[in-house]
Amino acid sequence: MMETFEAIRADIDRRLTDAAEKRHGAMHTPVVVTADADARVMVLRAWDPESRTLRFHTDARAPKAGLIGDGAPLGVLFYDREAKLQIRCRGTGRIVRNGPAVDAAWAASPNFARRCYLGEAPGMESGEPKSGLPPEFEGVEPDEEQLLPARENFALLLVTVESFDWFFLAHKGHRRAILDREGARWVTP
Ligand SMILES: Cc1cc2nc3c(=O)[nH]c(=O)nc-3n(C[C@H](O)[C@H](O)[C@H](O)COP(=O)(O)O)c2cc1C
Repeated sequence: MMETFEAIRADIDRRLTDAAEKRHGAMHTPVVVTADADARVMVLRAWDPESRTLRFHTDARAPKAGLIGDGAPLGVLFYDREAKLQIRCRGTGRIVRNGPAVDAAWAASPNFARRCYLGEAPGMESGEPKSGLPPEFEGVEPDEEQLLPARENFALLLVTVESFDWFFLAHKGHRRAILDREGARWVTP
């Protein structure tokens, strides 16, 4: 049982680092919540404990990207059933389309993942079920040259976390702590 704020801080850092690195980890696909009461699953790509920033990849044309823009309040919800742990993050998100961090993330993405940014914008209505991808790339990996137009649709969603709500389910009695700019405190679960 974790009984100090130092231990909880370290636990959060370790779990978010693992969440980004371990593709099959329970916390790899948190729920990202916008202020319009919409929520969606996204893949966590990186956690930087120094700047307390979560990094996601997204399509710059997606509705959430328009809503978030240069800065908007966001929630990010992580849950690990086996660990019996919920981490609720609150912070400020921003969409970044250009610059070295975006170029590096794009360069590190495999072509099959980059392919997602080659199709129609997310959320377009259609009279038939479809992926939105150009037909020649359905199930086919484009090459570097074919992927050139996809780059401008690729963006980072960076979320600077301002508060963590750490909640551990325990048979003897749950534990909950809030860590934010004002410090750390226990709260009843
Ligand atoms: C397992 C899973 C992983 C997903 N990962 C991402 C992701 O990393 N980035 C992303 O933009 N959308 C991802 N999506 C799709 C989003 O949940 C969402 O449907 C899409 O981004 C459109 O969201 P919006 O309409 O709120 O903009 C994922 C969906 C699932 C089911």
